[in-house]
Amino acid sequence: MKIGLFYGSSTCYTEITAEKIRDKLKPEFEVQLHNIKEDSLKKSEEYDIVIYGISTWHFGELQEDWEDKWDTIKTLNLNDKTIALYGLGDQEGYSEWFLDAMGRLYDEIVAHNKSNFIGFWKNENYFFESSVALRENKFVGLALDEDNQYELSDNRLNLWCKQLKAEINRLHEQ
Ligand SMILES: Cc1cc2nc3c(=O)[nH]c(=O)nc-3n(C[C@H](O)[C@H](O)[C@H](O)COP(=O)(O)O)c2cc1C
Repeated sequence: MKIGLFYGSSTCYTEITAEKIRDKLKPEFEVQLHNIKEDSLKKSEEYDIVIYGISTWHFGELQEDWEDKWDTIKTLNLNDKTIALYGLGDQEGYSEWFLDAMGRLYDEIVAHNKSNFIGFWKNENYFFESSVALRENKFVGLALDEDNQYELSDNRLNLWCKQLKAEINRLHEQ
């Protein structure tokens, strides 16, 4: 089964994470990577399963390529698609805005589509003041902090990819 993974990344962390997710979802899934700086978000419509990767910048702002493409999101038809999000941020340096961009992306998609979101992630072992990416104390996608918790990322990625495989199988068996 094919998955489209679309990401925006200013200093390559979200990009490197995209490559790791691609490798960890093998062999069950073939993940095609799209850097939204070059590839249109419209290509999301070609996949049944989509992963979006986004980092947060400048006190809760969107990563710049996501900022540039933001108006496209409301034009996408993502109804009935299976969608997972992951976000990168810095919970110590930007504790009041941890992963806000991931929360804003979630809200924007939900406002315009009836999609099936998977990959919600427990808020455990993070230390921050506030985040727009939380819903009932769960993150709307995988929460990664390469600035302060680099050593936890690989395990988080392994668990999350395992979770995605199980959730996709459950949804697509129905
Ligand atoms: C100037 C600057 C501002 C940042 N602002 C935030 C922020 O508001 N919230 C947050 O969670 N992370 C913030 N970060 C952390 C980045 O999101 C983090 O370093 C991330 O890994 C960058 O990913 P990228 O290189 O893929 O864009 C900021 C980092 C820098 C350098």
